[in-house]
Amino acid sequence: MEQIVLVGPASQTLGLKVARELGVPAINTEFKEFPDGENYLRWAIDDESVVQDKEVIIIQTLGAGPGPGKSQNARMLELFMMIDSSKRMGAQNVKVVVPYLAYSRQDKVFRPGECVFAEMVLKLLQAAGADEFFTIDVHADQIFKAVTMPCHSLDPMKALAEYLKGLNLQDPVVVSPDKGSRERAEVFAQYLGDVPVIEFDKKRDVVTGEVKMVGDAAVEGKEVIIADDIIATGGTMSLAIKLAKENGAIRVLAVATHPLLIGNGQYNIINAGADIIGTDCIDSIFSQVTMAGVIAEAVRQ
Ligand code: R5P
Repeated sequence: MEQIVLVGPASQTLGLKVARELGVPAINTEFKEFPDGENYLRWAIDDESVVQDKEVIIIQTLGAGPGPGKSQNARMLELFMMIDSSKRMGAQNVKVVVPYLAYSRQDKVFRPGECVFAEMVLKLLQAAGADEFFTIDVHADQIFKAVTMPCHSLDPMKALAEYLKGLNLQDPVVVSPDKGSRERAEVFAQYLGDVPVIEFDKKRDVVTGEVKMVGDAAVEGKEVIIADDIIATGGTMSLAIKLAKENGAIRVLAVATHPLLIGNGQYNIINAGADIIGTDCIDSIFSQVTMAGVIAEAVRQ
């Protein structure tokens, strides 16, 4: 089946790179917001038959990203429009690639009365017509059980480790800022070349959101790489950087698959004394490592 890539408004550079890696046509979209706030999107094509019987690969991230930009909710509506229009125009198969899956942290009931919205997002994508789903480094993959379409969380750690290796770090240590990121940090450390892993102890108050972190880390004189899936407000990362510095780290690198850097996140991390390294799941100045190869390999027939 012939493949085409539909490049979503939120992943323009990454979408084009994936199409180039695959050697298949890339198609752009036309999008806007109406004065009443409703979203609009169409394929930038004149002839709908270009979609007929094809396998459509849609690339659209759901992160708001640093600085001004559309919300994840608007991006999700655009994604529904891309999926539905693909099916209406006769696509035979639709692979949906969402590099950063917004709402992925709402993956269970933390307090009575909540909705497990991460699962709902997947159900909505499937209902819209997605045949297969791909994301990068999902927060917790148990949400995939909520749908019948095949779902994949692709591993960014090898590509991130390759980039880090190029920095010629001396005596590095990988730090997991909490228990949830331990497995990710272990994988990353293996790719880096059997680097030791240290875990900090983080506790977040589910009502206030306040984060506390402790850890008696053996990082004296080391170059510390703090590896996490998401930097949202930067609160977790800033605390981990502070702790690493208090324990004698000589250099700290804040590495994340999804540096959303909401509000003052960027300022807080850099002010805490670390460099930020991320992927292009969220398109920003911190997209040093591209996921184009990882995605292309996964969606290639
Ligand atoms: C939490 O479990 C995640 O892995 C991240 O550590 C967290 O989402 C980061 O959020 P923030 O930057 O707001 O502390």
